[in-house]
Amino acid sequence: MIDFKKLVSEYKTPLYIYDLDYMSSQYTELKDAFKARKSILCYAVKANSNLSVIRHFAKLGSGADCVSIGEVHRAFLAGIPAYKIIFSGVGKTDDEIRQAIEKDILYINVESEAELSRVEIIAKDLDTTCRISIRVNPNIDPQTHPYISTGLHDNKFGVDLGTAKRMYIKANNSQNLNPVGIHFHIGSQLTELKPIYESAEIVADLVRSLQNLKIQLKFFDVGGGLGIKYKDENLIDTYEYAQAILATLKGLDLTVICEPGRFLTANAGYFVSKVLYEKQNGEKKFLVIDGAMNDLLRPALYSAYHKIEAVTDSKSDVRAVDIVGPVCESGDFFAKDYPLPELSHNDLVVVHSAGAYGFGMGSNYNTRGRSAEVALENGEARLIRKRETFDDLIALEKEFLD
Ligand code: LLP
Repeated sequence: MIDFKKLVSEYKTPLYIYDLDYMSSQYTELKDAFKARKSILCYAVKANSNLSVIRHFAKLGSGADCVSIGEVHRAFLAGIPAYKIIFSGVGKTDDEIRQAIEKDILYINVESEAELSRVEIIAKDLDTTCRISIRVNPNIDPQTHPYISTGLHDNKFGVDLGTAKRMYIKANNSQNLNPVGIHFHIGSQLTELKPIYESAEIVADLVRSLQNLKIQLKFFDVGGGLGIKYKDENLIDTYEYAQAILATLKGLDLTVICEPGRFLTANAGYFVSKVLYEKQNGEKKFLVIDGAMNDLLRPALYSAYHKIEAVTDSKSDVRAVDIVGPVCESGDFFAKDYPLPELSHNDLVVVHSAGAYGFGMGSNYNTRGRSAEVALENGEARLIRKRETFDDLIALEKEFLD
């Protein structure tokens, strides 16, 4: 049981709290599921990019999946070795590609023919060879929220099979490119195994046809996407997940790479706010808290459900309330018509499953400083990011005041 009151008395609100021990157990469960093969879990840094969180995974032996050179630098700073860092994303700048090559990371995940050409030109300019992987878009519907679905040709991600094959041939013939991997990632918060299995089969078949062309890959990167329980979702069993993927790789000597984000961190995280007031507009009841959409955007952006718990002595019956923040947007809510008892000023409201795509998607909208972040490990709490101050928010502007 986490003592939210005690943590809040020390670190104030709004506050993110991460249970690192829970992250370890998720990591170990998934890593063990792949134990029949060589595998690397490359933590998807975007899910929660706090340096101490990345360092925690580094200590467990994790690699890192990064989508900007900033994330690559974070991974290095946190102690992830270069040979376990991969760099994905549909739009990499020349400068990002150059830095990734210079840092000699495991590979760059290439997402278009045009990008392959840029990587080749830059590698040539640096007089080196760049290890690459190609992201294949298998055109499979992952059956998740459209905003986090990436595996259909309608989505901007990856390349179709024919293009991928052409790109491998080009890379294989290039002095400056070394094709070592193949990648797919069909979406996030996946709760059905079938689309993952079907994608893996398609991509494994492509590996086989490349072998016939004497193009020998080493890494089979299955992306991330494993769903978690926010409410009552069907969960994919990790063992069955790994078995389904491994079944598609019969006869192939490949190291499996998996890029989990949400699975490792979401349910390790709590976002804690204080109640400011209750108010009523006509029949509608609102609970106004000191956290807002700039702290946790998921409900506003995806209408995402997060379980909410009140920490209170209130003995009242529950009623339906909209839980909202102070930001000047009607979209600034955590939940609508949520059953909570009557709460008083300074009671706590805890938003669950906030460890992935929470803090990282935050902003300074309405000139609100971002929350502090606290880690729990072996029963101890420690600060891993200070609360932003007003001075932090204006630091890059104030010299320009005339
Ligand atoms: N690999 C790639 C190439 C990705 O694009 C992503 C996530 C991951 C791995 C990690 O996926 P995960 O295991 O966390 O599902 N902001 C959204 C989620 C966006 C996911 C983007 N890509 C949300 O809050 O639901």
